[in-house]
Amino acid sequence: MKTRTITLSYEEFEHINELDSSDALLVEKAIETAAKSYSPYSRFPVGAAVLLDDGRIFSGNNQENLSYPAGTCAERTVLNFVKANFPESSIVALAVTAPNSTSSHPVTPCGICRQVITEVESLQAVPIRVLLHKMNGPTYLFENARGLLPLAFEEAGLGK
Ligand code: THU
Repeated sequence: MKTRTITLSYEEFEHINELDSSDALLVEKAIETAAKSYSPYSRFPVGAAVLLDDGRIFSGNNQENLSYPAGTCAERTVLNFVKANFPESSIVALAVTAPNSTSSHPVTPCGICRQVITEVESLQAVPIRVLLHKMNGPTYLFENARGLLPLAFEEAGLGK
């Protein structure tokens, strides 16, 4: 028997002012788009913004439905839009925020979104830097998405 350990490192910035200006701008876009979320059931708006390798920024938010499982998280709203419209572009950064969160930590992507972000990252040459922001609080910066999903499902036999 062996015990193996997986470590996850990230940077914590106490205030948005400490971020690089392009990271701060991406976080601002995520905050802006959270305000347009359709989340009447959870009352938990989430905003996500991505920066492409050519400098363009796109954003999306959670879109819920009376049939609860039909709802989509903010991360997948924007990632699916970008992959559908700009399949040749690489995503260099993703910012996520949930303004109504009462947690002392920034919002963290759900497991399904982590799986999706990881696969998008695996299709491109560059990592996706992930910024998780708490309103008026800290921002966590992860240098890639893969680290957020240790032992991710990846089955070569499925034909990817
Ligand atoms: N949600 C997101 O959009 N992204 C996350 O990272 C966490 C959760 C949404 C899903 C649902 O609309 C609401 O937040 C409550 O779970």
